[in-house]
Amino acid sequence: MKLRNLMLMFAAATLATFAATAIAQQPIIIKFSHVVALDTPKGLAAEYFKKIAEERTKGRVKVEVYPNSQLYKDKEELEALQLGAVQMLAPSMAKFGPMGVREYESFDLPYLFDDFKELHRVTQGPIGQMLLKKLDSKGIVGLGFWDNGFKVMSANKPLRKPEDFKGLKMRIQSSKVLESQMRALGSIPQVMAFGEVYQALQTGVVDGTENPISNFYTQKMHEVQKYLILSNHGYLGYVLIANKKFWDGLPADIRVALDGAVKDATKFANDLAQKKNDEDLESVRKSGKTQIITLTPQEKQAWKKALIKVHQESEAKIGKDLLQSIYKETGFDPSKL
Ligand code: LMR
Repeated sequence: MKLRNLMLMFAAATLATFAATAIAQQPIIIKFSHVVALDTPKGLAAEYFKKIAEERTKGRVKVEVYPNSQLYKDKEELEALQLGAVQMLAPSMAKFGPMGVREYESFDLPYLFDDFKELHRVTQGPIGQMLLKKLDSKGIVGLGFWDNGFKVMSANKPLRKPEDFKGLKMRIQSSKVLESQMRALGSIPQVMAFGEVYQALQTGVVDGTENPISNFYTQKMHEVQKYLILSNHGYLGYVLIANKKFWDGLPADIRVALDGAVKDATKFANDLAQKKNDEDLESVRKSGKTQIITLTPQEKQAWKKALIKVHQESEAKIGKDLLQSIYKETGFDPSKL
């Protein structure tokens, strides 16, 4: 009897050890949700992150990437991240306003950055660090900035002059700055999730929109818009983020490996973005499905003149001090637009 009890205890202990080992060997799952196609700067960078994160943690971390709004649309994905239903995202900066972080909307200001060099002085410097920290109080860790690119405008009429926008319904992301921008051009802004834009353009629910060319091409939006205007009037980029509780709770060695993967994936994203947008512009050109318009210097000047007031209108929402420090970093002078 005694021996039998001993054997039972031994068996139970062995089982418990097996179970504990099995649990310890379960990989840590990172669900990474996003709204764009795979073959975009963000889509490719997310895949690259998956690859190096899994390699470097030797399978202890598994990254599941869900592209194309497969899991969640814009607003839902941020809520899902805060609730811990997904662990990582890279929403565009224009999407943080509704959760009360309006500072990111400064990146939506028209003509604020002449090029990536100017932009990176902000995202890769102290202002960028300060902005990432701002997310802590929302239960989010800001991990880095991923570029997409400069935006083009589209419609079924050639938008050469600000007057051409009058009365058009233009889809925007959920940003007050973009709302002011479309109003300053005389159009009617309509906030809409990215995943719904193609159909809205196709059916005429909206008349036009804006985005970097990589998003137009991969969503086939150019097939349902007669004109694309190479206006480069603003920037669209992303904040790579994670659920803070999840990220802070990672085992130390995994965290080190993932921090490294984040750093390298960020470099990968930012090296790739311009190239991808250039390639996609060529593909749109070759498709012959839309007419590509380049603005003359005079036309460009008229856009700038119409849009400059957006800076002043947005100052109170974004914060005067932040705006001034961005201007200082980039050398931007609104009085010179
Ligand atoms: C959009 O909603 O237009 C973009 O933010 C989509 C994206 O993630 O690039």
